Amino acid sequence: MTLLDAPLVVASNRGPVTFERDEQGGLEAGRGAGGLVTALLGALQRVDGLWVAAAISETDRDVAAGPGGGRIDMEAFGADYRLRLLDVPAELYDGYYNGISNGVLWFAHHYLWDTVRQPVFGEETERAWQDYVAVNRLFAEALAEEAERSSTLPAFLVQDYHLTLVPRLLRELRPDAFIAHFSHTAIAGLTYLRILPGRIREGMLRGMLGADVLGFHSQLWAENFLMSARSLPGVRADLARSRLTVDGREVMVRIHPISIDAMPMREAAAGPEVQEFRRELNRWRGDTRLILRVDRLELTKNIVRGFRAYELFLQTHPEWRRRVRFLALLSPSRVDVPEYREYGDECVAEVERVNRELGEEDWRPIEVRVRDDYPGAIAAYGLYDVLLVNPTFDGMNLVAMEGPMLNRRGGVLVLSRNAGAYWRLGKHAIAVNPFDVQETAEAIAHALEMPHEERLRRARNLSRLVLTNPPERWVRSQLEDLQRASIRRPVAGA
Ligand code: G6P
Repeated sequence: MTLLDAPLVVASNRGPVTFERDEQGGLEAGRGAGGLVTALLGALQRVDGLWVAAAISETDRDVAAGPGGGRIDMEAFGADYRLRLLDVPAELYDGYYNGISNGVLWFAHHYLWDTVRQPVFGEETERAWQDYVAVNRLFAEALAEEAERSSTLPAFLVQDYHLTLVPRLLRELRPDAFIAHFSHTAIAGLTYLRILPGRIREGMLRGMLGADVLGFHSQLWAENFLMSARSLPGVRADLARSRLTVDGREVMVRIHPISIDAMPMREAAAGPEVQEFRRELNRWRGDTRLILRVDRLELTKNIVRGFRAYELFLQTHPEWRRRVRFLALLSPSRVDVPEYREYGDECVAEVERVNRELGEEDWRPIEVRVRDDYPGAIAAYGLYDVLLVNPTFDGMNLVAMEGPMLNRRGGVLVLSRNAGAYWRLGKHAIAVNPFDVQETAEAIAHALEMPHEERLRRARNLSRLVLTNPPERWVRSQLEDLQRASIRRPVAGA
């Protein structure tokens, strides 16, 4: 048996489903969306698969604390894999999730601090770090336990910045384990990461180095990781082969961009609800051109500079006034972190200002909708002329793929060079430096004025690139890497 068909154990903070109670008090499983969940579930269903995740909703917690140690056979919900929900104590979860994962690591990897005043690390950070360590340990212990229960040693696929310590902690418990860790975020460069307290920076890097294989969405992030890791005492790097050696073990650093699952999105796009939304949007836009952005209301998405760029475009190209509209579909995110709430208010205030200063009686330059609206986004993807994806830093950015896959008007993608997606799609998009509002304004003009043939050619190329990289390939590549790592691993005692 190779690792390609070995039992598989996935670990992530947020699981593929969240449970709620139905009216009769029974369990109802709400499925998470996205390429990641689809890809991993597909792989889990092919082999003997288990997904370990933190209990998030109240009902999840009941399940986690119930009989079976939080293990659920998902057959009852029409799927063929097992789930294990971890009952992470609420007093640890806050420090682990809000404090370190979203408040420190997310900020660091996306260069979010205004370093004149922030961050200031103190006792509170240290307490939160202890919670992060404790929760990562809970995960590692659960994974080691699953290895004990399995007759064949499973392959472990650990996800993201919430669980950076798991590879090392699991390796301590099971030195023979095959572990891949994948980062879905950007990874900050060496000097910016040095903002972090030494213990956190080194803990995170050494934690990840417990894996056999480390995956990233783009070369930028893989290179940044390599540079930081090789600065640690005792770590050697072979940059040409993208490998690190630590404690006599080899760690492969690999780039595997994930893509989206086209089928369900295309099916949703053909459904009656989306068609109704499309009619409504078409009535609203009239005969104007449409610039679209679809984002989580997230600090990294650079929403305010996007509006400023559009404002500058209208000021410098007055012939486009009344002939274009900007639709921003923003879904609320991480509302427990104060910076996110403030940023949401800033985005809306900016829209009001631009509309007040540039709008006319029957023309509002920007329409912003702040709510979860998946059907609305699917409908809007079909209709845009320009899709603006200008994050300051972004691990991947799936909007840059969803749009081109569903668009029917030869829409042009304006894409930040700092989005992981740029590594794969960049040459068919108009590239922008997300901090340069003037360049972004010119990119909008360029996109709107591009000859029809060129628009169509770029749009076809984008859509082809998305469709030729199905999410299954992303999982398969990681398992192939693990298989390679297993062949290179010295045999114990030899
Ligand atoms: C985004 C990031 C992922 C991350 C996820 C967490 O999608 O790209 O890297 O895992 O957010 O979101 P959550 O809502 O669970 O905090």
